[in-house]
Amino acid sequence: MKNIFAIETSCDETAAAVVQNNDNRIILLSNIIASSAKLQSKYGGIIPEQAAREQIKAIIPVIEIALRQAQCKPKQLDAIAVTQGPGLIGSLLVGVETAKTLSLVWNKPLIPVNHLIGHFYANWITSIHLPGVKAHLGGVATAPSFPCIGLLVSGGHTDLVLFQNHGAYKYLGGTRDDAAGECFDKSARLLGLPYPGGPEISKLAQKGDPAKYKLPRPMLESGNFDFSFSGLKTAASTLVETAKKARTEDICASIEAAIVDVLVTKTIKAAQAHNIKQIIIAGGVAANSKLTDQLRNQFHGHVHTPPAILCTDNAAMIGSAAFFIKPSPEPLHVQANPNLSLVV
Ligand code: KG4
Ligand code: ZN
Repeated sequence: MKNIFAIETSCDETAAAVVQNNDNRIILLSNIIASSAKLQSKYGGIIPEQAAREQIKAIIPVIEIALRQAQCKPKQLDAIAVTQGPGLIGSLLVGVETAKTLSLVWNKPLIPVNHLIGHFYANWITSIHLPGVKAHLGGVATAPSFPCIGLLVSGGHTDLVLFQNHGAYKYLGGTRDDAAGECFDKSARLLGLPYPGGPEISKLAQKGDPAKYKLPRPMLESGNFDFSFSGLKTAASTLVETAKKARTEDICASIEAAIVDVLVTKTIKAAQAHNIKQIIIAGGVAANSKLTDQLRNQFHGHVHTPPAILCTDNAAMIGSAAFFIKPSPEPLHVQANPNLSLVV
């Protein structure tokens, strides 16, 4: 397969992309994302029905613009890829049903992709050919090789996975309660910062002292690869309420340092336990430079991170993953699955 058209609608982003496989080098030819995050931010979080309505409005224009940006005609495509789950059912349905229709009308195979696996495959995109986007990857990025440890850190997930090959992985552990991104988002909300809170906290943290407040590092020594961020969120809430005169920048830096410390320590422990020399990070929180810098400084091996535009939800990562997944034998039977997980 050479050209894949991908659709992603798992949450509040409506995204479409064209990705090309050129001798196992994956090139991004178009990447269009419409987001209702600003609208949702008025309410401090996502309202599922509203997110689904925005998906319906955006899906056709986003598809048209993605094809135009790639200067690609449907007949040049070899398959359609779509996020099957997990996510919000109303949002997922828009993408899945649209992809099924395109598969039928354009007579192309349909490849359903797990959104969480998709996030990891943003690391396999090694060239970006987009108008107006300077080569983020400098043309020298290399795709990860196996085995590698994957850390997925998004708004809904914090998972550690050992990848042995494409389609062959072992789930090592994950959060027992809140995800790392959720901890950023909820702490930001307590501080009166807009949603999504991760980038806001991270920006303010740059001007703060990360050692100013001692926040807990939950499950650091738990002896397994699970995480728990709800206690940290409660500690952040207590801090916000009690330290009335505290500088927001110091609170943000202390929260970020606690989250990053836990993620970095556990990911390196997972790599050491399995004698692995490569780590791949993925998901919205992978855009956090403190996380990537600290991981690079402390890990004696190679750390792959996607460019920031491919960390948060996008369709390019779904298309990239699809090159390594078999098409569905019955495209019209593919169903959106809001509960799809990494645990098999
Ligand atoms: O992967 P993603 O776009 O959506 C999900 O599938 O969940 O991740 C969104 C999450 C949000 O929680 C957001 O606050 C967080 O990623 N995020 C960040 C940064 N950029 C996005 N967290 C920390 N630092 C950032 N720079
Ligand atoms: Zn995501």
